[in-house]
Amino acid sequence: MTLSDFQARRTELARRIGPNDIAILPTAPEQQRNRDADFLFRHDSYFYYLSGFTEPQAWLVIKGDGHTTLFCPPKDLEREIWDGIRLGPEAAPGTLGVEAAFSIKEIDAQMPALLDGCDAVWFPFATHKGLETRVDGWLGTLRGRVRYGALTPEIQRDLCGPLDEMRLVKDAHEQATMRRAAQISAGAHIRAMQLSAQMLREGKELREYHLDAELLHEFRRHGSQYPAYGSIVAAGANACVLHYRADAGLVRDGELVLIDAGCELDGYASDITRSFPANGKFSGPQRTLYELVLASQVAAVDATKAGARFTDPHEATVQVLAQGMLDLGLLDKNKVGGLEDVIEKRAYFPFYMHRTGHWLGMDVHDCGAYTEPSELGNKTERKDALTGETLISRPARILRPGMVLTIEPGIYVRPAEGVPEAFHHIGIRIEDDAIVTDTGCELISRGVPVDPGEIEALMRG
Ligand code: GLY
Ligand code: MN
Ligand code: MN
Repeated sequence: MTLSDFQARRTELARRIGPNDIAILPTAPEQQRNRDADFLFRHDSYFYYLSGFTEPQAWLVIKGDGHTTLFCPPKDLEREIWDGIRLGPEAAPGTLGVEAAFSIKEIDAQMPALLDGCDAVWFPFATHKGLETRVDGWLGTLRGRVRYGALTPEIQRDLCGPLDEMRLVKDAHEQATMRRAAQISAGAHIRAMQLSAQMLREGKELREYHLDAELLHEFRRHGSQYPAYGSIVAAGANACVLHYRADAGLVRDGELVLIDAGCELDGYASDITRSFPANGKFSGPQRTLYELVLASQVAAVDATKAGARFTDPHEATVQVLAQGMLDLGLLDKNKVGGLEDVIEKRAYFPFYMHRTGHWLGMDVHDCGAYTEPSELGNKTERKDALTGETLISRPARILRPGMVLTIEPGIYVRPAEGVPEAFHHIGIRIEDDAIVTDTGCELISRGVPVDPGEIEALMRG
């Protein structure tokens, strides 16, 4: 990304807000971990999207004519000896292409004047704790000057609206970064699979954290800054806990391992899940369920193309999984009826309780409306078959080239009466990252295979 790419995004945002409006956007706050140790700082995604700036304690102020002011940490030799070099406001216009830059210490003094005479003030709602209070404070100061001719904005608007729409469709540079991130993550999954089989072959004690360490090593050695989310490395029955984290569980010969892990590269996430036999060879029941999940993913991939709805891949997945559950005796036809009944009553829910995907981008669950903006008035009401709750739904988003989403069906079998014992404690998810194209989608995470035979082949000695 060059300086002018970020400038172009700010110009586009300015075009989307009114010509006499103002947008205010802080980066993420620093977070204390314990005593005087902080969590590793991660910039705010919206802020980075518009600035390319990764230092903490920074704010962007963008006017409707595109004029941008940055507030950032001032140069300070003593602090820089401890924390690292700061860009500083003097160098910021040349490096970031902003029109003006000031020390963060000046923000309270400058903001009322920047707000003076604007029609509307835009800032992200419900995302940054205390932000409304800061804006209120500046508006209050400005109101105190009305007798001297100051003019306060009368409207407050949610900046997430225009920014979410901009971020939803990824440009060529973003797509290239996401391809690289997915490639690194795919290599990390292969490495974990291979270590698993190797350690068990050698008769060593294998724990989930051994596999987690492989992932981290592979991410960092290719320049990824950190995992895009807490890695899930779940052996055996742990795979049925959806938000299980990589812990100390023993990985036993004959069990499946579910790894859901992806690196973040230059601000962009990848998100891959693979389920594999710890020893490199699927058992009969494991392979049966794996092939069902894979078939449901194939159906979802086929349904992912420009012009389709966001919900189409999910519906395609559910059709295949529900039929499979009936065929394999996970669901008893005599109790739940046929395929249509299973779908209508959501009888598949005990084994498949999550959606088939989400937007992917700078955030692993990326921003972007899941409803189609041009059809918001078209509401329907229905009673949920499981909870009895009345739900309002609106038409799902129509997919467009450049949108990026995950496709991640799964099946999770907890022991219960009537559930065939051979499938107990098996948890399987297969997750890939897809860029929507005109004719279908590009799966950018297939550097690690999904075919069970190919997984077994790469895990052989
Ligand atoms: N790793 C988070 C998710 O798959 O949604
Ligand atoms: Mn995901
Ligand atoms: Mn995932």
